[in-house]
Amino acid sequence: MTEIHKGLAGVVVDTTAVSKVNPDTNSLLYRGYPVQELAAACSFEQVAWLLWHGSMPTDDELAGFLARSVGLRSLPPLVVDVIDALPMSAHPMDVVRTAVSALGAADPAAEDSSPAAEQAKAESLFSVLPAVVAYAQRRRRGESIVPPRDDLGYAENFLWMTFGSLPLEVMIDAFRVSLVLYAEHSFNASTFTARVVTSTLSDMHSAVTAAIGALKGPLHGGANEAVLGVFAEIGTDGSADEVGARANAWLEDALASKRKIMGFGHRVYKRGDSRVPTMHEALVRVATSVGRPDVLVLYDALADAMSLAKGIEPNLDYPSGPAYDLMGFDTDLFTPIFVAARVVGWTAHVMEQRASNSLIRPLSEYDGPGERHLG
Ligand code: COA
Repeated sequence: MTEIHKGLAGVVVDTTAVSKVNPDTNSLLYRGYPVQELAAACSFEQVAWLLWHGSMPTDDELAGFLARSVGLRSLPPLVVDVIDALPMSAHPMDVVRTAVSALGAADPAAEDSSPAAEQAKAESLFSVLPAVVAYAQRRRRGESIVPPRDDLGYAENFLWMTFGSLPLEVMIDAFRVSLVLYAEHSFNASTFTARVVTSTLSDMHSAVTAAIGALKGPLHGGANEAVLGVFAEIGTDGSADEVGARANAWLEDALASKRKIMGFGHRVYKRGDSRVPTMHEALVRVATSVGRPDVLVLYDALADAMSLAKGIEPNLDYPSGPAYDLMGFDTDLFTPIFVAARVVGWTAHVMEQRASNSLIRPLSEYDGPGERHLG
């Protein structure tokens, strides 16, 4: 009997030097550095450089990258036209996926997969995605495009282009932390998708477009927006005891009807997600700064109830969803923000895959009808 590895669970398909997820120690290293240290001390641009190149940028390298990046922040007119042609009802993930595909179609270097061309594409996608995500929200609100500012860092400029004003420093910092935490996570479903596409010798924009499709699903990136649906169903009104009782009752019903509780569980981490404590601290700072302790009460109540009922701990989407909500993002923008962050990991993996490629093509065990014939 052939052993079937459903969902490829437990299968090691390749090596990677980009990041290391260690479920035993609940740790995540980007190129050897603990993600918590990076989240505490580094800009998102520094982390992107690290993930692409394998070492922290020197001052000159960082200055050169920042200068190139600010010049690539505006939405090209072609992409504005493509987005404008989509219905207002389109999910922002579909908008972002379509925009990346259009960027690929318009890239004169689309078929150039040399290391220099790949690095240029990675920097270009990194730099322009905030404009795409910001426009996905603004056009639905009937607001016009806010041009990027070259005097602002990545995280600050992202918020500026989305809201047309600069939020509190605590928001900017929590947003930066979330981007760093979301940037990379080894062979997750979307990254693996990007590597599969690359393994056929297809181009980087095709790999990223496919990865966005994989990230959209609620078992992967889509969970961060689904968490907000859960919070809305339970509600934050009332005392801590009342919220706790409602969270318990809601969870009992949800588990009885075999619902998957969004924002909990992980394929690799079985004893908690290494990124959650850092993002939870950021959520606490954000909620406190805007006077919303009720969100934290519900956060704790549901996490406690889930831990008690199933022994399953929150993943990164659990604190990031409510944090993005308190920052003012529309709920269906949460996963597109994840795209803007994870594009760093995807493109790093595309370059790693291409540098040591082997076509990814697993086998399957046939269990359909035996051979039969027409007539
Ligand atoms: N809610 C309810 N039950 C869950 C659960 C959740 N969020 N996560 C895992 N379980 C259950 C499974 O149904 C399974 O129960 P069973 O043994 O009775 O069948 C058991 O816990 C073990 O599941 P496991 O094999 O560890 O999960 P997985 O590796 O197949 O799935 C996820 C991992 C992420 C797909 C899963 O935890 C999930 O659907 N989470 C919700 C979506 C989410 O937050 N995704 C973001 C991930 S970063």
